[in-house]
Amino acid sequence: MKKAGCIILAAGQGTRMISGRPKVLHELGGKPMIHYALNIAKALKCAPILVVVGHMGDDVTAAISGARAVKQGKLLGSGHAVRQASKALKNFKGDILVLYGDTPLIKKDTAENLVRIHRANGAACTLLSAAKPNPTGYGRVVRDGNGRVAKIVEELDASIYEKAISEINVGAYCFDAERLSEALEELEISAKKREYYLTDVVRILRESGGLVEAYKSGDEDEALGVNSRADLAKAAEILRRRVLKRLMSEGVTVIDPATAYIQEGVEIGRDTVVRPCTVIESGVAIGKNCKIGPFSQIHAGTTIADDVEIGSFVEITRSAVAEGVRIKHHAYIGDTAIGRGVNVGAGTITANYDGKAKNRTVIKDGAFIGSGTILIAPVTVGKKAVTGAGCVVTAGTAVPDGSVVVGVPARILRKNSKFKAQNSKLRPLKRTLSTLSSSKNGGLK
Ligand code: UD1
Ligand code: CA
Repeated sequence: MKKAGCIILAAGQGTRMISGRPKVLHELGGKPMIHYALNIAKALKCAPILVVVGHMGDDVTAAISGARAVKQGKLLGSGHAVRQASKALKNFKGDILVLYGDTPLIKKDTAENLVRIHRANGAACTLLSAAKPNPTGYGRVVRDGNGRVAKIVEELDASIYEKAISEINVGAYCFDAERLSEALEELEISAKKREYYLTDVVRILRESGGLVEAYKSGDEDEALGVNSRADLAKAAEILRRRVLKRLMSEGVTVIDPATAYIQEGVEIGRDTVVRPCTVIESGVAIGKNCKIGPFSQIHAGTTIADDVEIGSFVEITRSAVAEGVRIKHHAYIGDTAIGRGVNVGAGTITANYDGKAKNRTVIKDGAFIGSGTILIAPVTVGKKAVTGAGCVVTAGTAVPDGSVVVGVPARILRKNSKFKAQNSKLRPLKRTLSTLSSSKNGGLK
């Protein structure tokens, strides 16, 4: 598809959010709301992408990588906002997609169709519309006697007859750049709200003989504009359901879709079962045939290989878990690499934070971590090594391959995995990590 430019409106304060933060920076599915409009612009390879910022503009600017910010000094409405961007696009010829930063549920395919239909018709403007059984709060699409789009009327200015129209303006448009900038010059401030409405451009274009078309989305959800916290929760729920639908279509069993909180950008392999009350953050990748949950939380930066069981009340962050691992009850695993077939006993904690830095734990293939073990990172547990229940492996130590350690602080009970009785003599662990100094007070050496 030929490239189009894109203007994203994100200058508004979002008064109805009752917030100290600009509306478009409120989180939705783990990402600031503005991410969704930006994502569409990027997926359609729009160039340039301009984001109109105003209220707390520096904060918004910091959140829009890959796009250029244009400042709107006084917030005089969506038409005024587009005018600022249009001025910055002075010599641009072609089509311009205009999106609102507070309308995050529009799908990429819908935006793509909007541009395609616009071009096929050679229209001056093509707007996205949707049928909403309860259209309150949205601009209504008013059609003439021939069924053609005549204008958009805002809720505040609508007559009772217009209020009864259920076709609403979603807030995504494709314009011919030149026709848009001409029409913007003719905008007048609205009588009631004292704003320049972008929606008035539709009437202006029609009156000057331009072709205006509406592309009707079949999915009412796409039209949701987020103006309040209630809208934000509604949008989050729709996004969540979309992710679950995709995962299920890819062969994942979700036992209770009502309580599976899986963010966009999570990949899960076939025949994996997600049990109730489980939270999985964006970027996590989980393999095939795993069992996850109930009541577990898997944070960003985590990869889980095939045939892994993550049980109840387990929290995992920034970790790599290899095939066949079992972490079945009450554990915290952070900044850890866990090798194949490792069993992590109930109540195991990787103490990864020393108050200054996050430190890494490595648990090698076949190791057995006894219940209630505390691994004070940085720490390494060797291949097929065993930690006894309740033992504390102190920072900077390495449990040798095949050995058994017990106690607080952990000491070697048996030197190798054959489990021959050697418990009369406790041997220090080999010194392999540079940070051993922190284990002076009785740790393994
Ligand atoms: C707008 C539309 C309405 C549509 C609805 C869809 C207008 C006049 N009305 O109404 O037809 O049905 O969206 O959700 O456009 N903004 C700026 N600068 C400003 C004012 C607004 O950048 O001075 C931005 C906001 O940050 C927001 C967008 O424009 O992203 C829309 O503004 P908002 O006030 O939310 O418009 P609505 O009343 O929701
Ligand atoms: Ca809005």
